Amino acid sequence: MSVSFDKSQTRENLMRAFAGESQARNRYTFAAGLAEKNDLQVLQGVFLFTAGQEEQHAKVYYDLLEQLSGQTVKVDGTYPVDLFPDVLSHLRAARRNEYQEFEHDYTGFAKVAKEEGFPEISHIFSSIARVEKSHGDRFGAFADLLEQGKLFVSDVECRWMCLNCGHVVEGTMAPAACPVCKHPQGYFIRWEMAPWGVPLK
Ligand SMILES: [Fe+2]
Ligand SMILES: [Fe+2]
Repeated sequence: MSVSFDKSQTRENLMRAFAGESQARNRYTFAAGLAEKNDLQVLQGVFLFTAGQEEQHAKVYYDLLEQLSGQTVKVDGTYPVDLFPDVLSHLRAARRNEYQEFEHDYTGFAKVAKEEGFPEISHIFSSIARVEKSHGDRFGAFADLLEQGKLFVSDVECRWMCLNCGHVVEGTMAPAACPVCKHPQGYFIRWEMAPWGVPLK
């Protein structure tokens, strides 16, 4: 079945995806502010890093609507109200929403796009669905550590990196303050979870 783009369900799905990504970016930016207030700069970083990727997803979807430029697209969608007082609830909600996009929304949109004769758009939906799965995994991993009191404490000796200055320390817990830049414990991340970390020699 081939459908013209301006009458397709896919154009609505692209707009829904754009709206969803735009909102996710904002929700994560707000959650990042809450994490900072709670001296959890490592989680602030996780939220902001992911927010930046949601912005890029939004751009990819929006650009695919280019041929409708100047028009409007009406959409009917549901969007989460995630206004929680604590960071853990935000991590859990983020995980839930990411998995919802992966398992339901984008996987369904990919199927519709394929059926309507837009294989490239279908491929984009499937690819971003997999990114959202990795986002869900990441939020879930940090939620577990926070809930178990293990964000800055480990059962075994491990390496910790200060996200502010890059200083690496070894031990069963992150120091109360970085010995180099004096930034507090909240800046420390387990080495294996650090951005652009490579195996230390
Ligand atoms: Fe996204
Ligand atoms: Fe995501």
